[in-house]
Amino acid sequence: EKGGYDTFMEKEIHDQPHAVRDTLIGRTDARGDLALDELHIDEDELRAVTKIVIVACGTASYAGMVAKYAIEHWTRIPVEVELAHEFRYRDPVIDEHTLVVSISQSGETMDTLMAVRHAKELGAMTVSICNTHGSTIPRESDAVLYTHAGPEIAVASTKAFLAQITASYILGLYLAALRGTSYGQAAAEIMAELQAIPDKIEALLGTMDRVKEIAYYMADSRAVLFLGRHVGYPVAMEGALKLKELAYIHAEGFAAGELKHGPIALIEPGQPVFVIVPSPSSEHGLHGKVVSNIQEIRARGARTLVIAEEGDEDVVPFADVVIRVPRTSPLLAPLLTVVPLQVFALQLSTAKGLDVDQPRNLAKSVTVE
Ligand code: M6R
Repeated sequence: EKGGYDTFMEKEIHDQPHAVRDTLIGRTDARGDLALDELHIDEDELRAVTKIVIVACGTASYAGMVAKYAIEHWTRIPVEVELAHEFRYRDPVIDEHTLVVSISQSGETMDTLMAVRHAKELGAMTVSICNTHGSTIPRESDAVLYTHAGPEIAVASTKAFLAQITASYILGLYLAALRGTSYGQAAAEIMAELQAIPDKIEALLGTMDRVKEIAYYMADSRAVLFLGRHVGYPVAMEGALKLKELAYIHAEGFAAGELKHGPIALIEPGQPVFVIVPSPSSEHGLHGKVVSNIQEIRARGARTLVIAEEGDEDVVPFADVVIRVPRTSPLLAPLLTVVPLQVFALQLSTAKGLDVDQPRNLAKSVTVE
């Protein structure tokens, strides 16, 4: 059942093109317009949404953070993302015009379920983005948008993460179309870019030898840092989480803009730092700002492992290692940039002789508080 791979995680990483492709299937009508009949929420109610709150835990919460950037940009609806276990014990400002979107692979995560119940009690509409048919969270939600990643067995989430991002983008574009924003009108173009992602992941997976090699010689690392900005920030945190879970190495993900506010003090000669570089086509000059960050940490001795778009030559002078990802539009980049980080954590865990699929102390679904 591991499809010829040594571990479920490796198989699931290679399933990712399918996971994204299958999650996109059936979400458009014959004219190519987004059609989410499966949501069963009245369109007028969705048009009247004034705020979206995304609740989730762990990797699913990072998918939620990625979604925030895209959904706000496309719909102009304010989006908050909150860890479900924090949300459930707060007194959040929520009403019947709030759409609470839970994200969960298993559909059984206790904290996320409790957050959904809390939201319902407060009168919000609830939508579940979930990978497991008939599980508790979608059953208790007003509506569900299933991800079609297929069963995920490895404790460390990989393909579910990509499918969650994909589904939340579909939801965002659908809401944008309902509200008639310019991005809603251009939804077909963005969908076409999404449709091109699976082949790009496939191509990227074919270039991972260098990443595997560096994982092997970094097996003794005591700490690894991850820097990202904009949608690359949640990717940095996801890269760090994968490394903690799988290789038991201290790892932190930071927003690159935060460096000078503290984390740069951690940089000493030899400190490995992954940097997820925004596309040169990103708005607000973010690419140049992150290239400057790489320069700053390199000057202090960091070993820079740079994930950058194909053709981005600006990073080369300051990178110890450049890991290339195919081009896509800036908001879709996490579907590609996270892949080398998953492979890195998997290989490092393997290099240390650890149990990749069943890391210590962890359960696949956390059904207790
Ligand atoms: O089943 P869920 O998506 O609700 O699970 C949420 C988290 O427990 C999960 O993503 C966890 O962080 C993974 N082990 C990450 O690899």
